[in-house]
Amino acid sequence: MLDKVIEIARQAGAFLKENEGKVSEVKEKGSHTNLVTDIDRKSEAMVVDFIRKNFPSHSILAEEGGARGAGSEYKWIIDPLDGTTNFTHGYPVYCVSIAVERKGKVIAGAVYDPNLHELFSAEKGSGSSMNGMKLRVTNTNNLEHAMLATGFPYDVREDPFNCIEHFDSFLLHSQAIRRLGSAALDICNVANGRLDGFWEVNLSPWDTAAAVLIATEAGARVTDFKGGRYSIYDKNILLSNGQIHDQMINVLKENLKA
Ligand code: IPD
Ligand code: CA
Ligand code: CA
Repeated sequence: MLDKVIEIARQAGAFLKENEGKVSEVKEKGSHTNLVTDIDRKSEAMVVDFIRKNFPSHSILAEEGGARGAGSEYKWIIDPLDGTTNFTHGYPVYCVSIAVERKGKVIAGAVYDPNLHELFSAEKGSGSSMNGMKLRVTNTNNLEHAMLATGFPYDVREDPFNCIEHFDSFLLHSQAIRRLGSAALDICNVANGRLDGFWEVNLSPWDTAAAVLIATEAGARVTDFKGGRYSIYDKNILLSNGQIHDQMINVLKENLKA
């Protein structure tokens, strides 16, 4: 199963790279900041086609086309282009993210970055790797020495509270914050030790499904903002190397509404 996930993640990623700078249609999805291009849709069609041919009975949940097929214990969860705003501007930070859920649990996932040629993958219980190299989170145990990442949600104009205050607080309590524009890559970068922690509001399962498996298989801890159980169907995520997790919860507490 993982081999097939990797095969199509590589194909779709190569398609994205070939089409950088060739976007012919950009549409807004409900707000000026939430974009979809013809390349997002073509990449998704390529992945869906592959699943239909190889696993015709499986269900699909994909960002642009929504849910397709029901009744299978397998569900493929697809973000055909994570980092659409970057892609539209020719900023080379984006990826494709594909996960497979079985009976409600993510069992396999791959995230492919065609700019750095980095293929992140994991199978539940077997660890995770990047281009064949085993992944492990950092040992940073003090938030003051940690490099974090986050993203800004598309509804920031309607609810600025949901990200600006957290950003301000982490800025004062960490070593550095990066805002790269691809949640899946941010999470994979906690898995491979480039980052120590990540938080974001208002994400969707296609942003997180594959990357969260990759990160947790590399030793990451993932919860909601209060330290409670996390599901990929939750909107808010806190993910870290584990050692700075409680310190991050304490920072988030500064601004959480009652
Ligand atoms: C977005 C990216 C971004 C995050 C947004 C996501 P998209 O996904 O992951 O980093 O901040 O919340 O929606 O729209 O480029 O697939
Ligand atoms: Ca996304
Ligand atoms: Ca997307």
